[in-house]
Amino acid sequence: MLARILETEVMDTVDEAQSYDAMDHSGVNARFVADFLTVHGTSRGGWFLDVGTGTARIPILLAQADPSAKVLALDLAAQMLLVANRNIAQSGLEARIQTCHQDAKAVAESDARFEAVFSNSIIHHIPEPETALAEMVRLVAPGGTLFIRDLERPKNQESLFHLVETYAGGESEQARAMFRDSLHAALTLDELRSLCLSLGLPESCVARTSDRHWTLSWQRTAT
Ligand SMILES: C[S@@+](CC[C@H](N)C(=O)[O-])C[C@H]1O[C@@H](n2cnc3c(N)ncnc32)[C@H](O)[C@@H]1O
Repeated sequence: MLARILETEVMDTVDEAQSYDAMDHSGVNARFVADFLTVHGTSRGGWFLDVGTGTARIPILLAQADPSAKVLALDLAAQMLLVANRNIAQSGLEARIQTCHQDAKAVAESDARFEAVFSNSIIHHIPEPETALAEMVRLVAPGGTLFIRDLERPKNQESLFHLVETYAGGESEQARAMFRDSLHAALTLDELRSLCLSLGLPESCVARTSDRHWTLSWQRTAT
C-alpha cells in the first residue's frame, strides 16, 4: 500500500491561487453541485458552509443552480479568498455568498449553525483530518446534511501513475505534479471509514464515487 505523503496544507501564494483558478474543474464542480442537491435538495432557508472554498467556484455554481441558496465560503488562504471575492463579484452573487478567513480545524461558529456543510478536495491537505472532520460534524444543524468529497489514495504506484496519465496527461508538468502530490496525500477508504467511526458516524456514509474520489454523505437526525 502507498504511504500517505502530506503536501502543503494552505495554498496561499498569489501564483497558487491564480494557477488553481485557471485550471478547468468545471466537470467535477458541476457533478459535486448536482450530487449535493440530489442528497440535500434546495435550500430550506438556512445557510450552507463550504469548507476550504478555494476560489469559490462551487458556491457560485450552487447559488446559480439554487436561487435561494446562501453560502458562507471559508478558507485559510487569504490569496484564495482574494480571487474568490473577485469571482463572486463577477457573478453578481455578493448578496448570497460571503467569504471568511478561518481554519477548518477550529471554526468560530456556533454548534449546528448550518443547514448543510459541504467540502470538496480539502481533506487531503490537512495533516490531522479528524479535527477538521469533527468541526464539520459539529456545525451541521438537526436534519441537515454533511457532504464531503475528496481524492482517494491509490493502492500502488502503478494505479497512481495511471490516474495521473488519464486525468492530467495533457496538462503542464506543474499540473501533473500537483495531481500526483494530491493523490499521495489523500486518505484511503479504510482510513476514512475508521475516522467516521471514531466520530460516531456510520461507516456506511462513505462510498467510492469515481475511480479517484470518495464521498461522505450524512444527515444529522432531525430533533
Ligand atoms: C484543492 S483546493 C479546493 C478548493 C475548492 N474546494 C474547490 O473544490 O475548488 C483546497 C483548499 O483548501 C484550503 N485549505 C487547506 N487547509 C485548510 C484549512 N485548514 N482550513 C481552511 N481551508 C484550508 C486551501 O487553502 C485550498 O483553498
